[in-house]
Amino acid sequence: MSLQIRTATNADCEAVVRVISAVFDEYSFTWDEGDYHADLYDLEGYYAAQGDSFFVAEQDGVVVGTVGLARYPLLEGVTGQLEEREGFIRVLGTDCSLERLYVDPNARRSGIGFQLVRHVVDLAKSEARTGMELWSDKKFVDAHRLYGKFGAKVVGDRICHDPDQSPEWGLIIELAAHT
Ligand SMILES: CC(C)(COP(=O)(O)OP(=O)(O)OC[C@H]1O[C@@H](n2cnc3c(N)ncnc32)[C@H](O)[C@@H]1OP(=O)(O)O)[C@@H](O)C(=O)NCCC(=O)NCCS
Repeated sequence: MSLQIRTATNADCEAVVRVISAVFDEYSFTWDEGDYHADLYDLEGYYAAQGDSFFVAEQDGVVVGTVGLARYPLLEGVTGQLEEREGFIRVLGTDCSLERLYVDPNARRSGIGFQLVRHVVDLAKSEARTGMELWSDKKFVDAHRLYGKFGAKVVGDRICHDPDQSPEWGLIIELAAHT
């Protein structure tokens, strides 16, 4: 089976919604097309047009996974400390974030998640970024193990702005420190 990771276009929106909504069904989380999930219906407008990236993993021509990379000016302060910025708790010492990591429930445990995370971590390093912020629902324990393989450390928690108000862990990958 061949796996390709490529930049998503709006032609991928339907497949991306299929993959991510399957994960939301799996965890009985609420789907919110108009707000929390609005980016998935206009990937080019919410990512490339803002200077961010959204990738899909395609296996034999079928989208089976997703990941995003958001870029922003360095959140200055003590690295790993949490602080409120523009209404959100953020991880200081970061200048990019991993977004929307999801793998189709039927395609898991074959390395796709690892390759998606490696893709955005390598990209961020190639751009000489300093730190990557990750926020992850406390129920996503498989993801926390995966992030640990890239040197991610839990630095705190917050309540997500999703419709379920889910508790989530905040993590940091110090990109310059971890080669
Ligand atoms: C977290 C998630 C993205 C991981 O995706 P994945 O494709 O299963 O990840 P991988 O295959 O790289 O790794 C998963 C496990 O399979 C193992 N594995 C990888 N390739 C394998 C293979 N060929 N044979 C057997 N096991 C394999 C890995 O070692 C890993 O094991 P571990 O969890 O015991 O450490 C996926 O479980 C998911 O979508 N979860 C729900 C959503 C979520 O948590 N998203 C994160 C949001 S912050």
